[in-house]
Amino acid sequence: MKAQEILSKMTLEEKIYHLVQMTTMTYLKTDGTNIVTGPDSTMKLDKEYIYDVGTLLNLVGAQTMIDAQTNFLNGSKRKVPPVFMQDVIHGHRTLYPINLGVAASFDPKLAHDVAKMAAKEASLDGVGVTFAPMVDLVRDPRWGRVMESSGEDPYLNSQMAKATVEGYQGDMGKYNIAACVKHFAAYGAAEAGRDYNTVDVSERMLREYYLPSYKAAVDAGVKMVMTAFNIVDSVPCSGNKWLVKDVLRGEWGFDGVVISDYSAFEEMIDHGYCEDKKECAYRAMEATSDIEMMSPCYANHLKELVEEGKISVEQIDAAVLRVLKLKEELGVLDNPYRSVNVEEAKRVQVGPEHRAIARYAAEESAVLLKNNFILPLSKDIKSVAVIGPNADTGAIHGDWPCGGKVDETITVLEGVKNIVGDRAVYAKGCNIEYDSTDESMIDEAVEVAREADAVILCLGEHQSYSGEGNCRTNIEIPRVQYKLLDKILEVNKNVVVALFTGRPLAISELDEKAPAILNMWMPGTEAGNATANLIFGNANPSGKITMTFPRSLGQVPIYYNAFNTGRPKLPEYDFNRVRFTSSYLDSPNSPLYPFGYGLSYTEFEYSDLKLSADTLTRGGKIIASAKIKNVGKYKGKEAVQFYIHDLFGSVVRPVKELKGFEKIELDVGEEKTVEFEITEETLKFWTKDMKFEAENGKFDVFIGKSSACKPFATFELVD
Ligand code: GLC
Repeated sequence: MKAQEILSKMTLEEKIYHLVQMTTMTYLKTDGTNIVTGPDSTMKLDKEYIYDVGTLLNLVGAQTMIDAQTNFLNGSKRKVPPVFMQDVIHGHRTLYPINLGVAASFDPKLAHDVAKMAAKEASLDGVGVTFAPMVDLVRDPRWGRVMESSGEDPYLNSQMAKATVEGYQGDMGKYNIAACVKHFAAYGAAEAGRDYNTVDVSERMLREYYLPSYKAAVDAGVKMVMTAFNIVDSVPCSGNKWLVKDVLRGEWGFDGVVISDYSAFEEMIDHGYCEDKKECAYRAMEATSDIEMMSPCYANHLKELVEEGKISVEQIDAAVLRVLKLKEELGVLDNPYRSVNVEEAKRVQVGPEHRAIARYAAEESAVLLKNNFILPLSKDIKSVAVIGPNADTGAIHGDWPCGGKVDETITVLEGVKNIVGDRAVYAKGCNIEYDSTDESMIDEAVEVAREADAVILCLGEHQSYSGEGNCRTNIEIPRVQYKLLDKILEVNKNVVVALFTGRPLAISELDEKAPAILNMWMPGTEAGNATANLIFGNANPSGKITMTFPRSLGQVPIYYNAFNTGRPKLPEYDFNRVRFTSSYLDSPNSPLYPFGYGLSYTEFEYSDLKLSADTLTRGGKIIASAKIKNVGKYKGKEAVQFYIHDLFGSVVRPVKELKGFEKIELDVGEEKTVEFEITEETLKFWTKDMKFEAENGKFDVFIGKSSACKPFATFELVD
């Protein structure tokens, strides 16, 4: 085996440097000097070995990769080619919607197909591995990285994780890349929604809610796992032996590569877990973490740890072999340039075929939050005003743009003009900054609105207000945007708000005032065309939110799959004050929009909800089914959702758990029956004895269009 053969010839120093990841920048110097530049220079590595590092990150461009790889191999004695890794999060060059949007499509095949497209674009630029999918379960919209996640439900997150891994990796052919599931584990549970903050969840909550999506990725054959910045049970994930060696590798059987997050090994000092970089190296290797991304602990201290007998050469060999096997599987050991192709990359990336895929994804991801019957607008409309700070900007493609470009992104104004031509008129109205108070552009916008038959008002966030390190303590829409809305409504009642956001926003006031709200998330390179297609009815919105939209930040964390508590406030009294219940003095408990909520231009009627039996024996199965009929005026899609409620358990159980969903398309008048299978497996959870089992007892079942649906039957699990 090539990997084993290469390992057997490596010196200890070469093995150690093979576990180091640096940026590509160092190898782009074509003057032959190996002076470490840029971010790498902070690592103070031994320059003799910089041509022995095993992997490189942050690279976009086929020629860039060719240059870097050529320089690397020219400088290397051992000539073991590095593999290039990149954050291909929601597209490589052609961007599709942020992942919180793709999840809202409730369509794992869509998640698969967009990942497959991104993999092709990335492979043509020489990328071998993407640091995706991010599958962290999230409950706090203050956290900037909810945009990368699939939301608050472990089942849906798992379905999306599986589909995305399979989309990237396929059969590991020339247009595939290896996936890296992240951030292991529970990074989304950061307290107060503040990035990198403390995570403190019980093992039961970890296993019940946070771990399933990583396990789904592992079961789908993901090639790499990235450990998270945060602590789990007060131990940083980078050096968490229980989490990585015992759970990931021991329980789940993962024998692939584990990589740190950016400088996360060294950050174990800041955590107060390690005294120095040497201890960081020891703890990380003890946990069986393989690659150190952008910090020098392994490079500068593993050798002395071996000499002191604290780390064995066998431990290092095992890590190096995992990296070499990944390279072998990617074909890099035989062809260092892998699938790079400058000409094909130019032809394919951001080409019409991929734009069409991105546009379809944006249409399927959008969520119609409100529609007082003004949507869809007629394509024959005499004039439409396109107004707002997000109306004529490409800065709505989403954070983590990889190689995506703002000036390649179709703006809403462009998209609308592609349908109605010069019947579209524009005004900015106000700025996008969350702290802007400038009202000087409102009057001009009002005049433009006054003359139009309808207004498309593009509000929300700038794309840089979500993503890593972009957390917010205020998730409202800025007052100046409400001022603009108020003034426009005074002169024109036909206002559609197109909302661009990387997170759930607290938009109760918008829900009260706007006749229609179409949440486009951050929709990617084809943003404007998708928005216009939906608004003018070329496409019918079918997305449903996978993360709860709160009425106010004061309700956060708020999520559908919560426990009932000993003093629940009954839903029928939600708008009443019921003291001495788990409730608020100044707000209902219900969210503004619940998990699984989203409207369509048509109407779907649910009927004939039934169970095939009211008793389930272990090893048996029963079927929950419903008829869904399109009783409206448009062809449309509906994500039918199936939930259970375990009424009693050896530990308390959530009031609802999503256990199935199916997205169906119905013509006007068409009816379909949707079925969901219930077996013992469906009912398993982490019991009081921390066993993953189903317990006898009664379960309510639900089939509906959102998590707000009511139970329609009860069954009992018996021996
Ligand atoms: C970042 C992110 C991680 C990303 C890595 C490489 O800090 O946490 O998601 O993959 O560094 O860019």
